[in-house]
Amino acid sequence: MKRFIDLADFEPAAVRDLIALAQKLEREPEPQALAGKVLGLLFMNPSLRTLASFQAGMARLGGSSFVITPGQGTWNLESRQGVMMDGDRAEHVREGIPVLASYSDALGIRSFAEGKDLNADLAETGFRAMAELVDKPLINMESAMNHPCQALADWKTMDELGVPDHGKFVLSWVYHPRALPLAVPAAAMTMAAQRGMEVVVLRPEGYEVPAPLADKTRALAKTSGGSFTETSDRASALKGARVLYAKEWGSTRHYGDARAEAELRKPLSEWRVEEPWFQSADPRCHFMHCLPVRRNVAVADALLDGPRSVVVREAYNRMPAQMAVLHRMLAR
Ligand code: CP
Repeated sequence: MKRFIDLADFEPAAVRDLIALAQKLEREPEPQALAGKVLGLLFMNPSLRTLASFQAGMARLGGSSFVITPGQGTWNLESRQGVMMDGDRAEHVREGIPVLASYSDALGIRSFAEGKDLNADLAETGFRAMAELVDKPLINMESAMNHPCQALADWKTMDELGVPDHGKFVLSWVYHPRALPLAVPAAAMTMAAQRGMEVVVLRPEGYEVPAPLADKTRALAKTSGGSFTETSDRASALKGARVLYAKEWGSTRHYGDARAEAELRKPLSEWRVEEPWFQSADPRCHFMHCLPVRRNVAVADALLDGPRSVVVREAYNRMPAQMAVLHRMLAR
């Protein structure tokens, strides 16, 4: 494997194979598999799980890693093209990324959406420009519209919980005080479609799934025997659901317009997941969220602390899932 950029680049059988490898590495650790290998981790944006799980996973396979968070003890990196660099950014990614890649056997990059132009973010212009600078195996640690590591861990989590391949997967918008990127919702809906699930996106008006993403999800669902629909009707969306996956994202109607977005979301603070949401769901319905999550803003304390919540298990699964990716990329 040379690149892990989008889970949809892999056939469902290949994803299942990666999950099987992750489970094997949990049962039968290989503490020397990546001895002498170095993983570079470039975080243009903050992280807790991604950073810690990659470092822990690499160490458990016998390799090592280094972390660069530009501007925090290292030069601040400019990523815009053709700009006069007379501000606080001392180095351009055009030099910085090839230098980091030259020290590494594989490089992970996190670079969130710019959040100004929906089409540019959908086209992954920022991440693609960085990816072109890397001549080593490359991992997407979250880009504008994707988070394949989270998606792989979530698929593994659902397998372990016995969620049927064709079960109902509801991705629900939940409230957040500001507009957040579409990366996780995009990765979650496409992953569930690839898995063959009945995917329903539940969201208020103004937060619709962008057409290219809906088309991609529909195509993946068609191939895997699943389906994709979108609604703002909570009761019908959750009827028979096996998973409620909550995520905050910004308005797609007012993308890049902070003032209009703030007006739209003002009356939506009741979009906080609480137990009554599950009335029509399958009694076994699990609650998923990629974390971090704001307690009592996006989801009630009682639900996060209750038996439906599998958020810590999802976060744990980031580590074995990524170990499988690293093993495929770097083991002899
Ligand atoms: N879910 C996730 O990617 O978490 P971090 O942002 O903490 O890495």
